[in-house]
Amino acid sequence: MIIKNAKLYGQDEFVHIEIHGDKIHKLLPFETPVESSGHEIMDLNGKIVLPPFVEPHIHLDYALTAGTPKWNQSGTLFEGIQLWSERKQLVKETKADVKKRAKEALEMQIKHGVQHVRTHVDITEPNFTGLEALLEVKQELKPWVDVQIVAFPQEGIYAYPKGAALLEEALKMGADAVGGIPHYEFTREDGVQSVKKALDLAYKYDKLVDIHCDEIDDEQSRFVEVLAAEAYKLDMGELVTASHTTAMGSYNDAYATKLFKLLKKSNINFVSLPKANLHLQGRIDSYPKRRGLTRVKELKEAGMNVCFGLDSIMDPWYPLGDGNLLRVVEMGLHASHMTGYNDIKTALNLVTENGAKTLHIAEGYGVKEGNKANLVVLDTTSEYDAIRRLPPVIYSIRNGHIIAETKPAVTTINEPIFS
Ligand code: FE2
Repeated sequence: MIIKNAKLYGQDEFVHIEIHGDKIHKLLPFETPVESSGHEIMDLNGKIVLPPFVEPHIHLDYALTAGTPKWNQSGTLFEGIQLWSERKQLVKETKADVKKRAKEALEMQIKHGVQHVRTHVDITEPNFTGLEALLEVKQELKPWVDVQIVAFPQEGIYAYPKGAALLEEALKMGADAVGGIPHYEFTREDGVQSVKKALDLAYKYDKLVDIHCDEIDDEQSRFVEVLAAEAYKLDMGELVTASHTTAMGSYNDAYATKLFKLLKKSNINFVSLPKANLHLQGRIDSYPKRRGLTRVKELKEAGMNVCFGLDSIMDPWYPLGDGNLLRVVEMGLHASHMTGYNDIKTALNLVTENGAKTLHIAEGYGVKEGNKANLVVLDTTSEYDAIRRLPPVIYSIRNGHIIAETKPAVTTINEPIFS
C-alpha cells in the first residue's frame, strides 16, 4: 500500500509512505510518481500523519465503575481510594467482569488512535483478580494495542497488610513495572521507604518504575526528590516515571529551583494527568483554588520529558473520560498556560513521542523507514488546527492494517444566512 500526500507531523513537506507487509518500506519524496506503481493507493490530500497515540497512565481495572456502589461526593483523591477499597469488599468481581470493563475502555482508546497503553492495576488485593485479568487482556488485544502493566499498590506498600510481598508477587506474575503511592503511606518515613522498595524491586526483577508521586496539594509532600535521587544513584532515570507530582504546583520557588537541578540530573520521566487532577485537586481550598497540576511548562522548558495521560474513564476518582487524548491535550495546554503558538503547534508530542519515551518504547516508534507500519491520520492539514478543532482520527493503521476508521461528521447550514 502507498499512503499518498501525507503531511508528517511537524514537517512541511508532503511524502508518500510505502508500506510493505507490516513495515514502512520507504518515505518517498512528494515528486515521486506513484500512480503506476501497482500498489493500492490511499490519497490523504495533505492530512497529518503521526505515530499512534500513547496513553502513559490509565487504570483499566477501575474503568467504568463510577457510581458502584456510590459516587464520589467530595471529588477528592482520598474519597476515591476509600470508595474503591469498599467496592473491593462489596462487589466480588470475577476475572471475566474486569476483562469486560478493561476491553470496553481500551476499545474507546483504540477508536481514538491509541495503540500503546500503560495501565496501573491494583495489587493490594490478595487474589490478584485485576492483575490476572489485565495480563490476559494484554495478550488478547495485541493485534490492536500494546499494553504495559504497572503493579500498583493502591492502598500502600506498607499501609496495606503484606503490601510489599503482594507487590513482589505481582512482578513475578508478569507485571512490567513497579508502582507506589508514597503520599498515601502512614508516615513520611514509610513513604520514603516505599520509594526505595519500589526501585529495589525494579532493579532486582529488571522492571520499569512508575510511582504515583505527591498527588496531593500539600507543599510538604516531597517524594519526587526521593524518587529522582534514588533513580540517579542507581542510574535508572530513563526507566523511572513520576506520575502526577501535583504537589510541585504548590512548592515555593526557592525549593523548586533546587529540586529542578536534581530532576534534570536524574533523567526521570513525568506524566501529568490534566483532566483528573484539575478535577481532584484544590478540593480543600476555599479561594483562590489551586489548579493542582505539576509544573508542566517549566519541566518542558528545562528539557525534561513530560507527557499527558487520561488516568481514568468513569471510576471513583473521575466521573467522565472517553479515551480521547486530544481532549486531554486541549485541557492540559489551558491548565498549564501552554497556549503560545509554538506550544500549540508541537502539543501532540505530549501524547506521542514523549509518551513513547516514558514507556521506554521509543526505539522503533515513529513514522520512519524500517519501523512497523503503525500510524494514525488526523482529519486536518494543520498542527494548529488539530488542537483548535480536535478533529477525529480518520485512520488508525497497525502492522499495515487499518484497525480503526472514523467518517468525519458533515454539518450544513440550510438557510443562506451569510449572503
Ligand atoms: Fe493514576
